[in-house]
Amino acid sequence: MHPFLPTSFFVMKTSLLAVSTGLAIANAYHWPSPLIDQVEGLLYEGRGEGNPDNSLLDFVGKLAQCQSGSLGESGAAEWIRFAYHDAATHNADDGTGGLDNSLLLELDRDENVGVGMKHAKADFSHFPNKYLSFSDVTAVGLALASAQCQGPIVPIRAGRLDASVPGPFGVPRPEQTLEEHTESFRLQGFNPLDMISLTACGHSVGGVRSNDFPAMVPAIPGVSADNFILFDTTTALDNTVVLQYLNGTTKNALVVDKNATLISDFRIFNSDGNVTMNQLADPETFDQTCSRLFAQMIDTVPSTVTLTDVIDPIPNKVDGVQLSIGFDTLLLRASLRFINENDRRVVTILWADKNGGCTSGACSATPVSIRDVTTTLSSRLGLSVNKYDFAAPVNATTSISKFWFQIDEGDGSAPTTLDNDGTGYEIPQDRVLYVPNSSTMLTTIVAVRNDIPPSRVYMDVYARGPNLTTTVDFARATDIASRLGYDFYTYDYTGVDFTFDLHSVVNGTTYTEDIRDTYFATNTPDF
Ligand code: HEM
Ligand SMILES: *[C@@H]1O[C@H](CO)[C@@H](O)[C@H](O)[C@H]1NC(C)=O
Ligand SMILES: *[C@@H]1O[C@H](CO)[C@@H](O)[C@H](O)[C@H]1NC(C)=O
Ligand SMILES: *[C@@H]1O[C@H](CO)[C@@H](O)[C@H](O)[C@H]1NC(C)=O
Ligand SMILES: *[C@@H]1O[C@H](CO)[C@@H](O)[C@H](O)[C@H]1NC(C)=O
Ligand SMILES: *[C@@H]1O[C@H](CO)[C@@H](O)[C@H](O)[C@H]1NC(C)=O
Ligand SMILES: *[C@@H]1O[C@H](CO)[C@@H](O)[C@H](O)[C@H]1NC(C)=O
Ligand SMILES: *[C@@H]1O[C@H](CO)[C@@H](O)[C@H](O)[C@H]1NC(C)=O
Repeated sequence: MHPFLPTSFFVMKTSLLAVSTGLAIANAYHWPSPLIDQVEGLLYEGRGEGNPDNSLLDFVGKLAQCQSGSLGESGAAEWIRFAYHDAATHNADDGTGGLDNSLLLELDRDENVGVGMKHAKADFSHFPNKYLSFSDVTAVGLALASAQCQGPIVPIRAGRLDASVPGPFGVPRPEQTLEEHTESFRLQGFNPLDMISLTACGHSVGGVRSNDFPAMVPAIPGVSADNFILFDTTTALDNTVVLQYLNGTTKNALVVDKNATLISDFRIFNSDGNVTMNQLADPETFDQTCSRLFAQMIDTVPSTVTLTDVIDPIPNKVDGVQLSIGFDTLLLRASLRFINENDRRVVTILWADKNGGCTSGACSATPVSIRDVTTTLSSRLGLSVNKYDFAAPVNATTSISKFWFQIDEGDGSAPTTLDNDGTGYEIPQDRVLYVPNSSTMLTTIVAVRNDIPPSRVYMDVYARGPNLTTTVDFARATDIASRLGYDFYTYDYTGVDFTFDLHSVVNGTTYTEDIRDTYFATNTPDF
């Protein structure tokens, strides 16, 4: 059964893509580019049905709907507030602070009060690794939250670095004066009119909780210890908050609270005589303004940080590459992803053995599955994202040096070769291989070639951050019989959520398998 509807022609909605400068990335792109690959994947690619856990966007789907809780709490709102509070302690005068993850070290401060902060932290925390910072995940989270809530498309750059020490205080608080807020936004890099717009954009989702601001939102005695007053009556990231402010129906606590000290949204919205709010009453103006200001907000980083170009969808992307071991052969897993759908398309993977040729029979295979992995964001860009998954048997004696693809679109045009701009997709070594099929989150199993016995087999463990946590040596897994010239090694690590690099030292040379991930190990399909 074919998973796709009949072929539809691929139409890119240029008006939406126009927000980004993408071609720069698309032209410079060469696989592998770990940071770009990961961010692009989190933005534009889900895992598809049956694999719900390996994408931040699927987290939005499960946990962070625009309205996910009985009181109207919104995971998407929590993510957006989290991003703002991290960025808000930038200092434009000396170039310090910004979206740098210092917020994680500042969550006990009054200015960062709220269970929503802890939710966002938990949602994001599975995704950072040695290539991808927590602050890049936060930026991606904002873009996904906006897309999920029918808000603007927010262009995403990557390359933020995480701080290891807390930054200064300075997130705006309701009881501050308009002058204090204006100065605070100036330090964040926003002028007084941007302050009005960005606050309206942020306060278009979510609301104020009694647990966090009991003076503004009293609990409902006997009904709920927590209570929640939404900024407006829609869950969408749209301009309803503006319209309801302008026509006097708003329930936004930061506009109508009876304690005039606390109505900071009123002071801000009213600060230019409502000129900006009247402009934002036009939905397209609201969308464009919020896109621009959200992007500026998440691109507010310390002056020492250089961000990449905007990361647009990569048309043909290779990922999930894993050479592993089966019973009679090695197994090459890899996926090729397209951003347009074509049910007549035929894709073949081809590979070369260690000597560069094919001396062992067939060196090609067809997909084992084709999956639709379109996300809300990619769908809103007019893309239909689908993955061709391969699990190809590779002769263990002759092994593999590189692979590439042949693509026949089935439309009468000549088949094309996709070979990473001529180099092929290289498999740098087969001496140490992760065996996801036998590993769990707790136990890591690796296969190591035994023709030259290794002097050491070990793993570098990275917690969910940039820096090495620990290095551990593997022991022989005596319960797994050697096969195909490989011995098996094992290690039980107490942390269940980490990434790691595998190493085998052979005759003075260290062979490495870069960045594998435990958290999703149990979701790895069987061969
Ligand atoms: C003077 C400026 C601001 C003040 C005083 C302020 C204050 C507040 C307060 C008191 C809450 C309620 C939080 C809770 O009950 O847990 C809130 C929620 C929120 N704020 Fe702001 N805010 C400001 C600007 C912004 C900006 C610029 C953004 C984003 C661009 C933003 C995004 C949000 C979001 C999304 C929520 C809802 C959170 C949720 O529902 O969990 N805020 N804000
Ligand atoms: C990682 O290590 C480097 C070098 O020691 C250090 O400067 C940096 O702050 C660390 N990063 C984090 C997030 O701990
Ligand atoms: C105020 O604006 C909201 C949002 O557009 C609308 O639903 C509501 O009917 C308006 N109310 C009045 C009294 O104009
Ligand atoms: C209004 O809020 C301010 C700031 O939290 C507080 O100091 C003041 O006592 C409040 N006023 C009233 C009448 O509750
Ligand atoms: C701005 O609009 C609000 C809400 O309608 C209103 O209360 C306020 O008086 C207006 N400000 C000015 C300067 O007209
Ligand atoms: C993978 O694991 C499944 C069960 O978990 C097992 O049936 C299968 O034989 C394993 N395949 C390989 C190649 O180890
Ligand atoms: C693998 O290749 C070797 C060397 O060409 C050959 O002798 C062997 O039969 C092949 N094994 C399989 C399973 O095809
Ligand atoms: C080990 O390395 C040495 C020096 O590079 C080389 O002479 C020798 O042949 C190697 N041994 C094997 C088994 O590859």
